[in-house]
Amino acid sequence: MISRTKSNALLERARNDLPGGVGSDIRLAEKPFPIFFDHARGSHMWDVDGNEYIDYMLAMGPLILGHTPAPVIEAVKQQLDRGLIYGGQHELEVQVAEKIRQHVPCAEMVRFNNTGSEAVHAALRLARGYTGRQKIVKFEGHYHGWLDSALISSGPSLGQAGPPLAPNAVLESGGQAKSVLDDVIVLPWNNLELLAATLREHGDEIAGIITEPIMCNSGDIMPRSGYLEGMRRLCTEFGVVLIFDEVITGFRYGLGGAQGLFGVVPDLAVFAKAVAAGFPLSCVAGKRTIMELIAQRRVMHAGTYNTGAVVMAAALATLKELERNDGAVYRHLWAIGEKLSNGIRALLQECRIPALVNNTGPSFYVALTDCQTFYDYRDTLKRDDATYQRLAAALADRGVRIKSNGLWFLSAAHTDLDVDVTLEALRSAISDVMG
Ligand SMILES: Cc1ncc(COP(=O)(O)O)c(C=O)c1O
Repeated sequence: MISRTKSNALLERARNDLPGGVGSDIRLAEKPFPIFFDHARGSHMWDVDGNEYIDYMLAMGPLILGHTPAPVIEAVKQQLDRGLIYGGQHELEVQVAEKIRQHVPCAEMVRFNNTGSEAVHAALRLARGYTGRQKIVKFEGHYHGWLDSALISSGPSLGQAGPPLAPNAVLESGGQAKSVLDDVIVLPWNNLELLAATLREHGDEIAGIITEPIMCNSGDIMPRSGYLEGMRRLCTEFGVVLIFDEVITGFRYGLGGAQGLFGVVPDLAVFAKAVAAGFPLSCVAGKRTIMELIAQRRVMHAGTYNTGAVVMAAALATLKELERNDGAVYRHLWAIGEKLSNGIRALLQECRIPALVNNTGPSFYVALTDCQTFYDYRDTLKRDDATYQRLAAALADRGVRIKSNGLWFLSAAHTDLDVDVTLEALRSAISDVMG
């Protein structure tokens, strides 16, 4: 039996100092809770008790190159001697912006922040500033960060959620300003007719539509054929700013993000996570006519830590690595993701466990469910969470670390051997948990 004596002792200490003993609420839900880590390298992590794990959580997605990627660490080490943060302009910032412009279809201009939540905030402000309208359409089950105006209906219970075709707008936290509900319309995702009807009725009040282009946070669901294209057409017709939240998909699904993959160009897009391979960087990128509002001082955007020299050095090294050898990282991510997701699907079928393995490649999602497919958030609620979480805990005991909500992330560092070891661990965990 695996020992986590030191982790448990640290948890006791931490609970005194840190609410819940953790630094981010998302970690409260992880199973088994909690593990304290000591170090990490490539696709592997080691906890304070010396247990080793293959990591498919990847810090919730940023670690596209795995833990401690050598070229990024080297670039950061070199920058450390030259200054951490200048609070002034420097060339690295321009170089990173140029690379983002080169690869991301919508990116005519770029502004940086540190976290995805901040960059979403900037995008919503730009949409409102540009259109002079107030309302934002967001979709049930999409997570756009923890700030008040975005943290709405990201994971409501069925009891709170209301009618499927006219969902309630649900605040997700105590202490949120209730007034944000006046400025949001929540819709189910993947339903173009409903979106069109909403725009026909409220188009002149709607500043922007924000969407994850792949619904990563709830089920890793792909858009239905024509859905994003239809959304694009409607936004153009009604003068609404289309915002893609590419915090997960950006630089994970290719250098052009999901917009490059689908060939649908939003007006604004938000990037974070993979863009700096684990260093805290985010950005809003988009059409010059909208972004220029910042230069004209009609929309305010700021941040003490924006474009720190170390973080920009990390981003530049990351982007160079992602470009290398004509996108070799992406060829690997798709191949290894396909191998693992297909392996899991085959194993679950062999064990006669009703399950859905959704999507493939750089991320995918596993749910214990009778559903053949998921189209929107409500579908994802038809899953057996309790058993999945027991499976996640049993996998951790066998040296495989997964997110307990079903999402799996791959990195450039994962190997065929990792996949083989993972599938063996899953076979053993299934027999332990599900008999
Ligand atoms: C799609 C999406 N948008 C925004 C955010 C918020 O980013 P951050 O946690 O960096 O504030 C997240 C975080 O997971 C996310 O998945």
